[in-house]
Amino acid sequence: MSTAFLSNRVLGIEPSPSIAANALVTELRAQGRDIINFTVGEPDFDTPQHILAAASAAMHIGDTHYTATTGTLALRQAICHKLERDNGLAYGLDEVVAGCGGKHIIYHALAATLNLGDEVIVHTPYWVSYPDIARLNDATPVIIPGDETIGFKLSPEALEQAITPRSKWVILNTPNNPSGAVYSEVELLALAEVLRRHPHVLVMADEIYEQFVYGDTKHVSLTRLAPDLQSRTLIVNGASKGYAMTGWRLGFGAGPAWLIAAIGKLLSQTTTCPSSVSQAAAVAAFAGDQAPIAGMREVYQQRRDRIVELLRPINGLSFIPPDGAFYVFANVSGLMGKATENGEIIQSDTQLVAYLLKEHGLATVSGAAYGMSPYIRLSFASSLDVIEEGCRRLKEACQRLR
Ligand SMILES: Cc1ncc(COP(=O)(O)O)c(C=O)c1O
Repeated sequence: MSTAFLSNRVLGIEPSPSIAANALVTELRAQGRDIINFTVGEPDFDTPQHILAAASAAMHIGDTHYTATTGTLALRQAICHKLERDNGLAYGLDEVVAGCGGKHIIYHALAATLNLGDEVIVHTPYWVSYPDIARLNDATPVIIPGDETIGFKLSPEALEQAITPRSKWVILNTPNNPSGAVYSEVELLALAEVLRRHPHVLVMADEIYEQFVYGDTKHVSLTRLAPDLQSRTLIVNGASKGYAMTGWRLGFGAGPAWLIAAIGKLLSQTTTCPSSVSQAAAVAAFAGDQAPIAGMREVYQQRRDRIVELLRPINGLSFIPPDGAFYVFANVSGLMGKATENGEIIQSDTQLVAYLLKEHGLATVSGAAYGMSPYIRLSFASSLDVIEEGCRRLKEACQRLR
């Protein structure tokens, strides 16, 4: 098809690389290839039973109509309750908005605020969609290079340097996809100090992985520590990861009423409202029994401990054990310049990912997708058996490189 029909907007972005990597796995499996999938960006658990029951009940009592654009009253109450219970944050009903996933909220928040030439500050390694969503809304992503020696976290100095009069948003993601970094209270307070000096900058706090923190690590919301920033911070969160509900497409934003109203105005012209059934399910998720979530967290902890143990002895890889989310972001610089069995020299993480997939049936995502090379992202959102087999393949693949 001729690209002449397409908008500059769509021509200026790439398809989500993590979704593309996962789609390739599905395609190769359909061809009969045995692939271990370390690209997975979602929980492998089924949605807990009490959430399914709530959705089923909603369908049967006729909750099958359009709802208020920003979400039903029951859902907005449940979101406020969740923010109070888990994050110690007080939000009013007009300060929260439900959407079809956290991504949908991020898109609409940026679309509601960005003008041509505005800047959106993100730091590497970043979640793949932030820069392209900024571009889709006429803004320029300002990319701060990450630094492994400080745990891939944004430093106050780097933030200060990146802010210009055109800065509209800075995006903070903790726990982080793909690095697994979780910001401590001290680190968040230092960033808050910088943000205080720049009142023209909005803050997006993407907390979608908040339930997944390991060992003694605690997730804290920026605005819990810096309440004065609540009036210009949008928290993005949702049901996808923590409640194993990716397919239900239910996320939310919490922020100042003027921003929530603007996002709502836009949503009224795009999606009208999230699925009524998903909203009923999310009420049970956010306000109902939290015990299944604690159970899932324990399983992720075991998986995280196991993958760390299996990856440690692999020559050529180095990594910081993740404190949160369900990914290991491994440095593969020790493998660059080595030759495969076929004599091909591995010169980039993208090439390494292709080698692992083609020659060893192991699917991973390259650091390039997250703006930082040479790294690979390994997801451990799968059973211990899959983790064992994937790490066995990875070890063998690395050993064969000369
Ligand atoms: C960092 C981060 N933010 C937001 C999202 C969006 O999740 P969803 O749209 O399923 O709520 C994801 C999904 O992978 C993510 O990794």
